[in-house]
Amino acid sequence: MELELSSAERHAADHATVSRVIRSRRSVRHYLPDPVPDSLLQELVELALEAPSSFNLQARSVVVVAGEQGRKALTAATGGQPHPQEAPVTLVFVAESGAWREDRDDIWEQARDSGAWSERFAADLPGAARAFYEDPRRAGLEREFAVKDAMIAASFLMIAAHAAGLATSPMNGWDEAEVKEAIGIAGRDDLHIALLLPLGRPAETRLHPGRRSSAMTLHRETYGR
Ligand SMILES: Cc1cc2nc3c(=O)[nH]c(=O)nc-3n(C[C@H](O)[C@H](O)[C@H](O)COP(=O)(O)O)c2cc1C
Repeated sequence: MELELSSAERHAADHATVSRVIRSRRSVRHYLPDPVPDSLLQELVELALEAPSSFNLQARSVVVVAGEQGRKALTAATGGQPHPQEAPVTLVFVAESGAWREDRDDIWEQARDSGAWSERFAADLPGAARAFYEDPRRAGLEREFAVKDAMIAASFLMIAAHAAGLATSPMNGWDEAEVKEAIGIAGRDDLHIALLLPLGRPAETRLHPGRRSSAMTLHRETYGR
């Protein structure tokens, strides 16, 4: 006979699992060559795209680089670091800073058709988004705002991948022009590289490098001690 879990028990089990997965994830720099099955890769990217985004504009995309030529180009763009070289796949998170100016009617239509947003809300949102983004544009922050969407998606992917037994390593160390060239967007000023994320089966075990205690980094009500 199957035991029915109460809602509280389900939350407790989910919480314990998510907590364990988050606490045990590490950035891994050496990988086995085993390919990541396509269906799992697809699922992980879809989980990443479940991440929230400003105005639901989804100002980010993911480029999956698994071919030899692309991996070589990304390895060169990172100055020859081992992880993009060894990992069977590197995900490139692209920030789309022009998203708020583009026609993204499919987004509003989807939310309206599913009933998630009222007709009125869906009709008003494109204008509200454009009005909101004028300030960041004037302040030169369009890129920064799109990078927020990309980074939160990358974070979702790191957690989902670790839960599936795969490793990742977020990377900042690359030449942006070379990465853009490698993924076919050289010269696109509206697209930016937020993060490279090698993905694959780990070939090493990393220890937790530690975190500052929350006594130093958790502030209440105002910043400061
Ligand atoms: C935005 C970002 C960029 C990073 N860039 C690199 C990188 O270029 N190369 C690298 O080896 N590790 C990189 N790391 C990994 C960090 O060194 C690592 O997250 C940190 O030491 C904490 O270790 P942990 O992820 O295992 O907890 C990066 C991490 C983040 C969040």
